Amino acid sequence: MSCISCKMCESADKKLESFVASKDVETAFHRTEDQKVKCGFGLQGVCCRLCANGPCRITPKSPRGICGADADTIVARNFLRAVASGAACYLHVVENTARNLKKLGESKGVIKGEKTIDELAQIFEIEANDRHEKCIKVAQKVLDDLYKARDEKMELVEKIAYTPRVKKWKEIGIMPGGAKSEVFDAIVKSSTNLNSDPVDMLINCLNLGISTGLYGLTLTNLLNDVILGEPVIRTAPVGFRVIDKDYINIMITGHQHSTFAHFQDRLKDEEIVNLAKKAGAKGFRLVGCTCVGQDLQLRGEHYQEVFEGHAGNNFTSEAVLSTGAIDMIASEFNCTIPGIEPIADKYKVKMICLDDVAKKVNAEYVPFDRENIELITDRLINEALQSYKSRRGEVEIDIPSDHGHDVSLTGVSEKNLKAFLGDSWKPLINLIAEGKIKGIAAVVGCSNMTAKGHDVFTVELTKELIKRDIIVLSAGCSTGGLENVGLMSPGAEDLAGENLREVCKSLGIPPVLNFGPCLAIGRLEIVATQIANELGIDIPQLPLVLSAPQWLEEQALADGAFGLALGLPLHLALPPFITGGKLVTEILTEKLKDITGGQVIVDSDVISSADTLEKIVIDRREKLGLKE
Ligand code: SF4
Ligand code: FE2
Repeated sequence: MSCISCKMCESADKKLESFVASKDVETAFHRTEDQKVKCGFGLQGVCCRLCANGPCRITPKSPRGICGADADTIVARNFLRAVASGAACYLHVVENTARNLKKLGESKGVIKGEKTIDELAQIFEIEANDRHEKCIKVAQKVLDDLYKARDEKMELVEKIAYTPRVKKWKEIGIMPGGAKSEVFDAIVKSSTNLNSDPVDMLINCLNLGISTGLYGLTLTNLLNDVILGEPVIRTAPVGFRVIDKDYINIMITGHQHSTFAHFQDRLKDEEIVNLAKKAGAKGFRLVGCTCVGQDLQLRGEHYQEVFEGHAGNNFTSEAVLSTGAIDMIASEFNCTIPGIEPIADKYKVKMICLDDVAKKVNAEYVPFDRENIELITDRLINEALQSYKSRRGEVEIDIPSDHGHDVSLTGVSEKNLKAFLGDSWKPLINLIAEGKIKGIAAVVGCSNMTAKGHDVFTVELTKELIKRDIIVLSAGCSTGGLENVGLMSPGAEDLAGENLREVCKSLGIPPVLNFGPCLAIGRLEIVATQIANELGIDIPQLPLVLSAPQWLEEQALADGAFGLALGLPLHLALPPFITGGKLVTEILTEKLKDITGGQVIVDSDVISSADTLEKIVIDRREKLGLKE
C-alpha cells in the first residue's frame, strides 16, 4: 500500500497521489506510513482502560482483566461504546436539522421541497393549515421522539420503517426508545463493573442502529430535502477542476447541510457577487469536501450559480487546501480532519467553525443560530472577502486542472430514480429477474487510508462487482473516491459485465449510481424497502448486499448496525476491533443471520470479498426462483 519512491500511502486516484507527492506539505498520505505498525490489542478490541486498574490487555496467558472481565465482555463494551458514539453523531445531525426546519416554519422561510413536506406530513399523520405549519409539526414530531425516555418507544419508527422489519424488531425486542436516552444508557451499560453480557450489549447495538438509520440517516435526508430542495439527476464536474482561482473559494466540510442553506442562497445575490467583483474575483464558489460537499453536489440543480461540483472526500481535503486556491474553510461537523489545520495556516486560509462539537483549534467559532441567520451569513461573507484580499498574491496557487472529470452523474435519490425508471420499480425488478442486472450492491461509507490505501479497496471492489453485472449504489465518502476516478462518468459502463453494460447503455447511466453523502444510506434503505414491498418480500430476501469496505469512524459502525438490523449482509475490509472476542465475532458473523438476517463479513481481499457478495446475490436469486 505504499508508494516506494516517496514513502507515501497510495490512492486509487493517481492524479491526487502525484499532486500530494509534489507538494511540500504533510498529509494523511505521509502519516499513514509512520503509523503503519498497529497495536495488536487495539486491533482485536481487547485493550480495556475503563478503570484505574487498567489498562488491561487480554492474552492467552491472561484471559481476564483485573476485575474479571473476559475478552468478549471487553470487546462488547468497546464495540457498544463505539456504536453509541456513532449514533450520537448522527442524532446530533438530525436534531439540528429538525430544529432548523422548525425555525424555517416559524419564520415562514422558503420551503424548497414542497412535495417532501406534504409527504412527511401525510406519513406522520399531521393535520396543518399550510406548509409552514407542517414544517413545524413534522420537525416537532422528530424532536419529540429523540427526547423520549428509554422506556417510551419512538412513534415514528412504525410509520417510516418497513412493516415486516418492524415485526421482526418487535419479536427480538429491539424497538428503540427515545434515541438520546438510548445512547445515554448505552454509555452507562458499557462502563466498568456494570453489564458483562456480550449478547445483551450486541442486541443494544442493533437498537441504536435502528434509531441511527431511521432518524440520523433517512429523516435527515428528507428534512434537508424540504429545506434545500430535492435532488435532481444531472451531470456535474468533479475533482479539483471545480476549484477556480478567479473566484473566492470557500471549502465546506461536515455533514449538516441545512447549516449552509441561507449562506448558499445569499451567495447568488447580485449585491454579494458585486462585493466579490469589487475585491477582484468573479464571485463566490463553494468547494465541496466530505459528505456535506456530496450533499451540495446532489442538490446542485438548485444552486448552479455558486456550486460547480465536489472536489473530494475527507482524505482529499488536505490536498485541496494545498492548491492554495481556497480562501476560507467553513466547517460544521466531522470528517474535518485535524491534518488540515497546519496546511490552512501555511496557506493563510481563514477557518470558521459553525458547530462547537467540531471546533478546530485554529478556527474561529461562529455559533450557528437560525434566529441570527442574516448576521451569520454576513459574517461568513465578510470573512471570506477579507481572507481573499489578504492572501491572494501572498501564496502560490497550483490547481491540477486535469484532476477529476467534467461529466459525472449525480443527484440520484430514491424518488427521482423511481421516476426515471417510469414511476415504478418494475423496470429495475424486471432487469434483475431477467438477469441483466444480477443484483444490487450498496458500496457505502467512508474513505480510509488503511484498506490497501486511500479508496483503493473501494474502487477495486466496485470494479469487481460491476464486472459481475452487479449494479453499485454509492453513498458517503466512498462516493467521492468513486466519482473522482471516473466510475460515474461516460465510459465507466465499459468496465461493467456484458449484461450490465447493455443496461447502462440503453438507460444512459453509469454502472455506479451516486446517492451523495453517507446520510443517503437512508435513501438506499428507502429503495430497498420499496423494492421489497413491490415484491411482497422482506429485505433480507432481496439480492442486495452492503459493503462499507473502507469504514472509518464510529458513525460507520452505527450505520453498519442499521444494516444488520435491516437484515443485510455487511462486508467490511477491515475488522471493527472485535476479533479478540470469539463469541462477539461468532454472533456478528454467523449467529445474527438467524436473528435479523444480517451478517458481518470481514474480508480484506478484493476478489474473495466480491466472490462472497456475488454468492449471496446468486443464493438469494435462486431462493426467489430467478434464473442465473
Ligand atoms: Fe481492567 Fe476491568 Fe478495569 Fe477494564 S474495567 S481496565 S478489564 S480492571
Ligand atoms: Fe459522511
